[in-house]
Amino acid sequence: MTETQDEKEELSWKEKKELEKIIDSVEDPKYQKIELLQKTQEKYKWLKDEHMGYLAESTGVSYTDLYGIATFYTQFKLHPPGRHKISVCMGTGCHVKGGREILEKLKDILEIDVNETTEDRRFSLDQVRCLGCCGLAPVINVDGETFGRVSTKEIEGILKEFK
Ligand code: FES
Repeated sequence: MTETQDEKEELSWKEKKELEKIIDSVEDPKYQKIELLQKTQEKYKWLKDEHMGYLAESTGVSYTDLYGIATFYTQFKLHPPGRHKISVCMGTGCHVKGGREILEKLKDILEIDVNETTEDRRFSLDQVRCLGCCGLAPVINVDGETFGRVSTKEIEGILKEFK
């Protein structure tokens, strides 16, 4: 759902100050849009629509440009992170051992896509290339804890461990 400009949340004085600081730290913000977005995401852990709007207004870059970049590159998150971060390995080793089925099962259970967060903010889901333990394929990682040789049947049990 897209909010209209009028429905957007008003930024606090503190947020405006922080965003100004980010803009000042980028050498040529009008042309270094990726860096601008990276630094904003580093600060807030995701790219809030209102923040991109403020960046656009203050730098003269069009909001559409910023939004286009943010949706094009998977490194950018357009949703707030969940309390628990699930990473599914999609490296070759895991892919051939059923990584895709694990990912699809997670998407079904959580009712979200990759790079999204559940409505209750309990989980965020992403995919990574290789978690460095291919011998345990297929592998998922939840909040830094690795689960190896995972089957689709075990997924719900794993999720229950993370409230
Ligand atoms: S390919 Fe999955 S851990 Fe290496």
